[in-house]
Amino acid sequence: MKIIVCENYDEMSLKGAEIVKEQVNSKPDCILGLATGSTPVGLYACLSEMNKKGDVDFSKVTSFNLDEYYPISPENDQSYRYFMNENLFSKINIDIEKTHVPNGMAEDPEKACKEYDESILAAGGIDLQILGIGQNGHIAFNEPDDELYEGTHLTGLTESTIKANSRFFEKEEDVPTKAVTMGIGSIMRAKKIIILANGPAKLDIVTKLINGGITTNIPASILKVHPDVTMICTRDAYPEN
Ligand code: GLP
Repeated sequence: MKIIVCENYDEMSLKGAEIVKEQVNSKPDCILGLATGSTPVGLYACLSEMNKKGDVDFSKVTSFNLDEYYPISPENDQSYRYFMNENLFSKINIDIEKTHVPNGMAEDPEKACKEYDESILAAGGIDLQILGIGQNGHIAFNEPDDELYEGTHLTGLTESTIKANSRFFEKEEDVPTKAVTMGIGSIMRAKKIIILANGPAKLDIVTKLINGGITTNIPASILKVHPDVTMICTRDAYPEN
């Protein structure tokens, strides 16, 4: 895993956005894997600036998001579909029909998950996957557990994730307890991955990730065996400061 340590959030966001820009410029019809959470908001802002200036064109890009709460409607302002529309899709020239977020309202989630994986494969697989990291080491909503799942699936959220994400909701009881998430296989099949970590709240998990072994207790640790992963973190999230 390659590591880039940045002085602050803005530098981390710009570094990440530059990698996305290079990807799209070298393959205009590429497939991007996108993440939510507070971490990539700055990266998305950089991409919309770049798009406005004409430095990058998203018109041929297809995107697949990592996860969505369940059950939740796309109109709910806490849904990840809403988040993506607000923070990125409405600000760049991507064709909204080519953007995919797991369906948080699926009547048959198992079938919907299978179809989601099939659409990623049919599109040719993810060229560049953007990831954040949960304080407990989760990626997307692949939570620490005895086993990790390969494909997109419906999962329960751990108490620590519900607590961490409650900052976006009025009260903790409002946080959905389930989510649809890409599996570890869907993520690991991406040709290139960038993982962002910002701020002191991520220092502990980044330290464990860098210094520890590969374990299902830290789902992000599987990334260590991927051939093209770059971690972009701020200095206060990095152990050697
Ligand atoms: C959320 C998302 C993840 C995200 C992580 C970190 O629950 N499912 O995709 O990477 O938690 O969020 P944040 O960037 O807000 O710290």
